[in-house]
Amino acid sequence: MKLDAEQLARFDRDGYLFFPALFTPEEMKTLSDEVPRLYAMQRPENVREKTGNVVRTNFAAHLYSAPFARLARHPRMIDPVEQMFGEALYMHQFKINGKQAFDGDVWQWHQDYGTWLNDDLMPTPRAMNVAIFLDEVNEFNGPLMFIPGSHKLGALPAGHDLTTTSYPLWTIDNDTIATLVRNAAATAGGRHGGIVAPKGPAGSMIMFHSCLVHASSSNLSPWSRVSVYLSLCAVSNHIRRHKRVEYIAHRDFTPIECLPDDCLIKPCPVDLPWANGTPASALVTSLDVLREAGATV
Ligand code: SIN
Ligand code: MN
Repeated sequence: MKLDAEQLARFDRDGYLFFPALFTPEEMKTLSDEVPRLYAMQRPENVREKTGNVVRTNFAAHLYSAPFARLARHPRMIDPVEQMFGEALYMHQFKINGKQAFDGDVWQWHQDYGTWLNDDLMPTPRAMNVAIFLDEVNEFNGPLMFIPGSHKLGALPAGHDLTTTSYPLWTIDNDTIATLVRNAAATAGGRHGGIVAPKGPAGSMIMFHSCLVHASSSNLSPWSRVSVYLSLCAVSNHIRRHKRVEYIAHRDFTPIECLPDDCLIKPCPVDLPWANGTPASALVTSLDVLREAGATV
């Protein structure tokens, strides 16, 4: 799948592109049928909501689940990003966010590149998020919210929030968000009110810039909002520090090779290197290595 000139211009202006119903219900079923099995696993890759046992996000399923390993190499997700960067990509992060009915907690206002820079020392924002909806996303189940055009500001000052949710995040303060929203509304001149929230059926896809400011509120509805996020990084822009465990910030910079477009619904063999569990080496971080060497960190 290639982007045309109008799409490229819109991405440059807004920082995201939305593709409603890009994947068919049959393709999505192969993925959503696998989610309960993954969420039931007792693996460190399942991060739970702070209230209890409900899975907030599952990391790195592309290394131990065949349907998600296929999605991670899907040309509809990989090709447009490769086109934009003009370079091969590797998988920086792969996650299945639950946002479960009644229990799904907020994601505070942030830029993904803030975390990738501060924690992982990713040199530049040459990395992209591609999200795919496994459930319908509507106004009630915590849709992702964007401030259009905010990607143009580069990495904004952020604070490390370790308390609001169960997952540490570099977040942006409320005064800054209010200013960004006011400015985005003024720039859009009536096209939107400063915040947008793409909504659509399962199978819809969003591409968004790693500096685009985004958030989502909690899910008080009876409808889960499971979405998969591929964070694709240009190979030359690979991270320079392994402060986070490998299932959150990957260390294998091998270029992704796409599978055929029908790989989700036709037999298509894939390697599952973590099928028997998380390798011990994935849990070692560079700070651990420094500590073992006797350094004070
Ligand atoms: C994210 O920002 O990484 C996830 C947000 C969401 O799923 O709502
Ligand atoms: Mn994010």
